Amino acid sequence: MSRSAHPAGPRHADVLTEGHYAAPPADLNALDAKVWSRTVARTPDGAVSVGGIEVARLAEEFGTPAYFLDEDDFRARCRAWRDAFGTDADVFYAGKAFLSRAVVRWLHEEGLNLDVCSGGELATALSAGMPAERIAFHGNNKSEAEIERAIEVGVGRIVLDSFQEIVRVSHIAERLGKRQPVQIRVTVGVEAHTHEFIATAHEDQKFGIALAGGQAAEAVRRALKLDGIELIGIHSHIGSQIFDMAGFEVAARRVVSLLAEVRDEHGIELPEIDLGGGLGIAYTSDDDPSEPHEIAKALNEIVTRECEAAGLRTPRISVEPGRAIVGPTAFTLYTVGTIKPLETLRTYVSVDGGMSDNIRTALYDAEYTVALVSRRSDAEPMLVRVVGKHCESGDIVVKDAFLPADLAPGDLIAVPATGAYCRSMASNYNHALRPPVVAVRDGEARVIVRRETEEDLLRLDVG
Ligand code: LLP
Repeated sequence: MSRSAHPAGPRHADVLTEGHYAAPPADLNALDAKVWSRTVARTPDGAVSVGGIEVARLAEEFGTPAYFLDEDDFRARCRAWRDAFGTDADVFYAGKAFLSRAVVRWLHEEGLNLDVCSGGELATALSAGMPAERIAFHGNNKSEAEIERAIEVGVGRIVLDSFQEIVRVSHIAERLGKRQPVQIRVTVGVEAHTHEFIATAHEDQKFGIALAGGQAAEAVRRALKLDGIELIGIHSHIGSQIFDMAGFEVAARRVVSLLAEVRDEHGIELPEIDLGGGLGIAYTSDDDPSEPHEIAKALNEIVTRECEAAGLRTPRISVEPGRAIVGPTAFTLYTVGTIKPLETLRTYVSVDGGMSDNIRTALYDAEYTVALVSRRSDAEPMLVRVVGKHCESGDIVVKDAFLPADLAPGDLIAVPATGAYCRSMASNYNHALRPPVVAVRDGEARVIVRRETEEDLLRLDVG
């Protein structure tokens, strides 16, 4: 089939003609600590456990597909970020990566703040007791109702994303008799080295106000004139799954030069800058993410140096990691169903979930890895593509990986590093029931988001 003959030509052609896989790993039973959460281990009998519980027991109790979230790992990552940035900076967890009431409580207990970007995320945060002043509200098209609610409950900051929103937020705050602390989100013109759809600081896109052409300076000018808002800082988010600190360096330099401009023009030093999230994690053994203390050190040094050069007091820094906190803490557990070997090509392994629980492979060409977790196997490695059960050939979970050749229906396999943007982007495609999220810690497992049921689906369908 020629590529142009089919709307999804390249992707479908690639399925059969291209492979991005490397050589099989030396030991298929080994679990690379880079991609698995901290308490995942192989037990002496060869099965895999998390938080001290074997996956077969988890599958029996909670079913598959299901996400298992390693609570100790999540909390440890929160502390690592908080400690790395210390008391002179704030860490806002980006709730879009994955949010539930249990997660909100863990964040609160571990001393993190929360970034929300919709009324739904705000409601989740508030219902689990996150103090409003520790919440930042984002979004390029917040509704009036969302703005009103955010101001009413007293969120710590609203991040303004457009000229229209500067006026809108100020008017609503005035109507409510409040003065709302705000930051202005600027686009600094950096092309982050990541997938086009998740890079956000170049100028040709919907988010933020460009530094270029003096637009951000004009936004500041307008914000400073309004009574309903108090401008406390400048925000920049350059993209996602970034490993190279160079993009943050350029962003920080440009944000600081705006602070200097503001000081020169208005005689005020804005007290805060937020450098956003976007720090990469290891999805496969090829990825080498930095540790939070390395990131904190690099960002602090860049900002301090640039501020010294500009004769500014160093502002309070904040960051918004989502994926880097929750991403590595969970895996998706699937049961193997149909196995279809294609002579000389690869073996298609179908699982009981798919693009409805992980859209990232289909949407961003994301790379994942997979392991047989219900038992050990010393069989030869076989090249597999893990696919879902949806009516679509792009329904791929893991494009290229190796599993043992004796894999059989009923085996449990797990895809690690699915804590971020998998459950939060899950869908009901084909009326799939979205899987539960189960938190595991110290030999105990508890559902924090339950599995959907057919009743849930039918409840929305009012006939
Ligand atoms: N702050 C802002 C303003 C953001 O827009 C985002 C992500 C974050 C923080 C958190 O970024 P993180 O540290 O999680 O990379 N669905 C895509 C990612 C979209 C990210 C959108 N904004 C994916 O699955 O890769």
